[in-house]
Amino acid sequence: MSSSLSFQPSSSLPDNNQPRKSRFTYRQLGQLALSSTACPLRVVAHVDLDAFYAQCEMVRLGVAEDQPLAVQQWQGLIAINYPSRKFGLSRHIPIAEAKKLCPDIILQHVATWKEGDEKWAYHDDASKNIATHKVSLDPYRLESRRILACIKETLPAHLQTVEKASIDEVFMDLSAQVHTIMLETYPELTLPPPGNDPNENLPLPPTSVLDWKADTVVDLNSGETEYDDPDWDDVAILLGSEIVRTVRAAVREKLKYTCSGGIAHNKMLAKLGSGHMKPNQQTVIRNRAVQQFLSDFKFAKIRGLGGKLGDQVSSAFGTESVKDLLLVPIEQLKQKIGDDTGMWIYQIIRGIDTSEVNARTQIKSMLSAKSFRPSVNSAEQARRWLRIFVADIYSRLVDEGVLENKRRPRTINLHHRTGGQTRSRQAPIPQGKKLDEATLFDLAKVLMDQIILEGRIWPCLNLSLSVGGFEDGVTGNRGIGDFLIKGDDAKAQNRVLQSSDALHGDHDRRGKHRRIKSSKGIDKFFARAEPSEHDEEFGAQMWPQPDADLLAGQDAASTEYGNITDSSREANEAMEKEEIDDMPSGPSALHQQRITEFICKRCQSALSSAAALQNHQDWHLAKDLQEEVLGQPLHSSRPSAAGSKRKAPHSSRQRRPGQGKAEKGQSKLAFG
Ligand code: CTP
Ligand code: CA
Ligand code: CA
Repeated sequence: MSSSLSFQPSSSLPDNNQPRKSRFTYRQLGQLALSSTACPLRVVAHVDLDAFYAQCEMVRLGVAEDQPLAVQQWQGLIAINYPSRKFGLSRHIPIAEAKKLCPDIILQHVATWKEGDEKWAYHDDASKNIATHKVSLDPYRLESRRILACIKETLPAHLQTVEKASIDEVFMDLSAQVHTIMLETYPELTLPPPGNDPNENLPLPPTSVLDWKADTVVDLNSGETEYDDPDWDDVAILLGSEIVRTVRAAVREKLKYTCSGGIAHNKMLAKLGSGHMKPNQQTVIRNRAVQQFLSDFKFAKIRGLGGKLGDQVSSAFGTESVKDLLLVPIEQLKQKIGDDTGMWIYQIIRGIDTSEVNARTQIKSMLSAKSFRPSVNSAEQARRWLRIFVADIYSRLVDEGVLENKRRPRTINLHHRTGGQTRSRQAPIPQGKKLDEATLFDLAKVLMDQIILEGRIWPCLNLSLSVGGFEDGVTGNRGIGDFLIKGDDAKAQNRVLQSSDALHGDHDRRGKHRRIKSSKGIDKFFARAEPSEHDEEFGAQMWPQPDADLLAGQDAASTEYGNITDSSREANEAMEKEEIDDMPSGPSALHQQRITEFICKRCQSALSSAAALQNHQDWHLAKDLQEEVLGQPLHSSRPSAAGSKRKAPHSSRQRRPGQGKAEKGQSKLAFG
């Protein structure tokens, strides 16, 4: 590892006096301007806030930077700042132990909603009131929003592609901006190619010295030396790294937050890079260093390989390391893991990831839930919680631009669980008029009343309210909302009163045993259990989240909060994944045993979780409505990209043939 590199004088004039050429062509340089995921010069960055919730509290409380501080949630710690990590503190440590190890630590409990309150607050006694309080992550979401805005302000508006990947991280595709800087810095690149042939190779960069400033630069692969002249991919990544340094400095100066960055050729590598050296540093992974960098990792660190899939791979091949897995021939991977998934693994451990940075907000659903111990035993008490859930969801909707009518959900769902039974009801959200908190609350109450009418619903152990079926308020592909306007509002309201049983009765004419399949198979590994105790926390925090913390672990199975474990951390991330569409172009279907728990009554599809089932039911509902309006069944899964005109540089990001398969969550909405 070296913190600064210098290259020997350029040897671009070899013996025969013919200038040596770059490995890259004029065509590929052109692809860079379009942020093409196929461009070998592509530059992607990932920025992740250091100890995010803890930093939020430090900034809010104005505590000194070297003051140990941790964020508490009931009897557990959910974020530990770096000064306290020096005392050996981690998320696994009980509060008493943390105080013993670091007597000066400030333990700040997260903000909570108190049962019946209209607004969250920081309550001194929150940790003792788990039965009557619900965690609110609003303060962190607000900070997250400010940070995102700051990052976007720092980048040129017409060249930026920024994807919010979780509450504390973003991906940036810097290709277009890097391209512009390259042309400005190296005017020879603006000249037409010899013979006007775009397949001609570029000249080599005139510079032989690249100054990596204070970045951590990952060592090169064996066989490569620092004395080899840099090529344009090195230059591009260096320019990307300078942009990231500027972004991080802006966040630091304007908002006082430190973050870490990774700069590489794709999302997967950039994400690994940002976590490589923390806090407050950035890591560059040049193309020539990818192999070296990846081979030291356990593959569980790679996004998509952290959960069940990772477990399956390690038991199939008896290893957890990328190095060993690199030796497995592709046929064997395919044979043991399945064709698509095997192929995906083969590529991802070689650093190949063509998933795009998607600037569009990716949230597909929002959930607010709580498990009750002691149980909830009356309609009035349940309604008080519903009010909190609605307020919680509504504040996140505001973040999503609902007030500006940018995006809005189309369905609302209520799940109710007693000891032995889970019931759920859903309804369309009337479109065509402003969506406000009161409307949502009224809908939620109607759903609750329907459940109450069934009888024997107390004691209630879990309630969870969610909204889903988000669509952009953009033109182009017609969304179902276009059909549900004005006079149809009344119709929609009527539908509210139908029970989901009626809506999802056994009257499906098509595909019995239809399964969620193919490219969505990887989703099974991000499956989340039914909203449960820890969902009260994690459900609520569904930040537009996979990597969520997009990237590390993915197993949401059986975790308890309070005793925050690695797997609960993963659960958290998995929850985020559930909400966001940004899955890497993953491998296809692998069915998991646990998906059989959630079967769609209507089409017998097996879903991976209550949330997935709910989402799936939303899809039926939306499809029914659209069919009803159009008067004919819909067969096509998505409209073609051809109809949606987007101008360069985004045109390259349109769905390509073969990419037509919907991303996670999307396939269920056949329009939009
Ligand atoms: N978080 C949580 N529960 C988990 C995992 C994460 O509540 N099981 C919260 C943490 O409080 C954290 C934020 O999500 O502040 C972002 O998580 P992550 O980036 O994984 O960790 P950080 O605390 O930001 O620490 P790092 O510096 O390692 O990124
Ligand atoms: Ca972080
Ligand atoms: Ca993170």
